[in-house]
Amino acid sequence: MPELSVRHLTQTLGSTRILDDVDFTVADGTFTTLLGPSGCGKTTSLMAIAGFHTPDGGTIHHGDRVLFDAAAGHDLPAERRALGVVFQSYALFPHMTVGQNVAYPLRLRRAGKQEIQHRVRTVLELVELADRADAHPHQLSGGQQQRVALARALSHAPTALLLDEPFSNLDAKLRERARDWLTDLQRDLGITTVFVTHDQTEALAMSDQILVMHQGRIVRAGTPSDVYHHPGTRFVAEFLGRCNFLTGTARKAAGGGWQLDVPGLPGTVPFRADAPPGDETVTLAVRPEALVIAGPEAGNGAESAGEPAGRPAKITHETFLGDRYLYSLAVGQVALTALTPHRLGEGDVHVTVTEDAASVIVD
Ligand SMILES: Nc1ncnc2c1ncn2[C@@H]1O[C@H](COP(=O)(O)OP(=O)(O)O)[C@@H](O)[C@H]1O
Ligand SMILES: [Mg+2]
Repeated sequence: MPELSVRHLTQTLGSTRILDDVDFTVADGTFTTLLGPSGCGKTTSLMAIAGFHTPDGGTIHHGDRVLFDAAAGHDLPAERRALGVVFQSYALFPHMTVGQNVAYPLRLRRAGKQEIQHRVRTVLELVELADRADAHPHQLSGGQQQRVALARALSHAPTALLLDEPFSNLDAKLRERARDWLTDLQRDLGITTVFVTHDQTEALAMSDQILVMHQGRIVRAGTPSDVYHHPGTRFVAEFLGRCNFLTGTARKAAGGGWQLDVPGLPGTVPFRADAPPGDETVTLAVRPEALVIAGPEAGNGAESAGEPAGRPAKITHETFLGDRYLYSLAVGQVALTALTPHRLGEGDVHVTVTEDAASVIVD
C-alpha cells in the first residue's frame, strides 16, 4: 500500500493559524500518531487528509495519487480518496443495523449486492462481530460500537486508515484492550494508518512514528522511544510524561563529553551533545524513572566499584501509585521527582544522574 505524504498544509481562520506548515510522511504500512493537546489542529489535519476539510495551502499525496493540491485547485472528493475514516464520535447510524452501517460506504460507492454481502461478512469477522450483524448500535457495548465503526471504515478495502480519538468513549481498561487489538489488526492488514489522540500513553504504545503537534505545528517527530527520551523541547518533554529539568552552565568534561553545573545541585551532571552547546547555559530533561536511586549504604559501595557515589538526597514526599512509587527529593537546593518500582527505605538516599538519562532541550 502506498505511502501518504502531507506537504506544507496551512490554514488560517481570522488571525489564527490553525495549521502552520504541517508536513509529514507516513511510510507504507506503518502507524503514525498525531499527538497534542486539545485545539492544536489534529482533527483539522486528519479531516484534510480525509477530504472533509479544505486547507488554504499545501498538498496531499497517497502514493502517486494527488488527493489535494491547493495551488492547482485540486481537491478530490472524500469518497474517491479510498480512505477509511473513524470519526471521534463513531457516528454510527442509530436506525441502521450493524450490517447496514458497515454496508453504507459500499452503497455510497455503488458496489454490487453480492460484493456488499461478502465484504460486510469479511470485515465483521475481522472485528469479531460476525454474530451481531442484525443488532442495532444501542444494543452493543461501547467497545463493540467502536469495532463496528472500524469495520465500517474498512468495508470498502481502503488503502489507508484515519482514526480520530477512536477510544475516547471507552473506559480505561477497555481502552487498553482496544489499543492492543487495533495495533494487531493494523499489522495484520499492513494498512497505512494515521491515528489522532491527546493521550501520550496511547501514542507511545501504538505508533511507529509520533508527530507531536502544538498550536497548529508539528514540533517533534520520531519513534516513540526517540520522542520520549529526546523530547527536544520542554513542551514535548512535559506532554509525554513527568520530567525533571536541570538548567546550568555547561563545560567540557576531561574525558570528552560535557558536564553541567547546576546552581544548588552538588556535583556536576554529565551529558552528551552532538554539537557543542552554543550557549553556556543548557537545560537537560531527565525522566523521573531514569534517576538512579540508592539507599544510604549504597553510596560508599558504589564509589569503591569506581562509580560515582551519587548525591545525598532527602525524601520530601512519597506517593504510592499502585505499580510504582513517586518521590519528591531534595538534592542540595534542587527538587527532583523520581519514580521507582520499589519503595525506598527510611532515611536519606543517594541520587545519580547518568549521562544516558540526560537529554539537552531548548525552551
Ligand atoms: N469550523 C471552525 N471554525 C473556527 N475554528 C475552528 C473550526 N474548526 C476548528 N477550529 C479551531 O481550530 C483549532 C484546531 O482544532 P482541531 O483541529 O479540532 O483541534 P484538535 O483536534 O487538536 O483538538 C482549534 O483552535 C479550533 O478552535
Ligand atoms: Mg480533535
